[in-house]
Amino acid sequence: MTVDLTGRVALVTGGARGIGHAIAGRLLEAGAHVAISDVKGAPEAAAELSGKGKTHGVTANVSDPGQVEHSVIEVEKELGPIDILINNAGITRDGMLVRMGDQEWDSVLAVNLKAAFSMTKLVARGMMKRRWGRIVNIASVVGLTGNRGQANYAASKAGLIGFTKAVAKELASRNVLVNAVAPGFIDTAMTKDLPDNVREALMGQIPLGRLGSPEDVAKAVLFLVSDLADYITGQVVVVDGGMVM
Ligand code: NAI
Repeated sequence: MTVDLTGRVALVTGGARGIGHAIAGRLLEAGAHVAISDVKGAPEAAAELSGKGKTHGVTANVSDPGQVEHSVIEVEKELGPIDILINNAGITRDGMLVRMGDQEWDSVLAVNLKAAFSMTKLVARGMMKRRWGRIVNIASVVGLTGNRGQANYAASKAGLIGFTKAVAKELASRNVLVNAVAPGFIDTAMTKDLPDNVREALMGQIPLGRLGSPEDVAKAVLFLVSDLADYITGQVVVVDGGMVM
């Protein structure tokens, strides 16, 4: 069975690199037209992926509701109404709670959580009208387990999981499915600066014995937006090599 997304339009936030870039590639290979939105590098990433299908890159900071709105208008003008939304853009500003400033808290919540609200609200109405939509929010296992030094990040990802379930219940009757993917320790720019001892300790906790790749996450997302997942909504799919179970 192959996944066929021919005729579908997808938007991936934070798609210029890392996990979002891999997701965009998979969606293109499945036949979707794919818009990449990112605060930097979106046009270049879209050009780079254009050999796989129709792409469009849009520069937008997802934490700015005005830029989010403009990006959606631009994507729908270039590619058509959005059927598939992947809320992937995310940042970390780690630090222990007692030293964490308001700025670290607010910026992480704005990009990782509020942006998903702004983006989803804008595209959900059209999906509901057309009686078809797939939304996947990229959370984190840290949103399930918590993590030292990541009170802001864990709160944002736990919030994103709650948001996923609430919106899944609201939109289900219109055949708009909303799920979350919670990656574990994935080898991207976000994790490359971890000290060697931390990296080794983390590896010891992964039963499958390796870090995840952006492709590992992208494959789960592809499943959730495909017909294979027609009866799945409000779920959190953990992609972590067995780290959290
Ligand atoms: P990354 O740092 O490689 O890529 C994130 C992308 O988001 C970048 O292209 C960046 O420019 C973009 N971005 C950041 N702030 C933005 C903003 N305000 N507006 C628009 N775009 C913005 O990170 P990675 O690893 O690919 O992460 C993707 C998602 O996966 C994030 O939500 C992250 O929290 C999540 N995740 C990553 C894990 C990992 O181990 N790498 C583990 C669990 C979750």
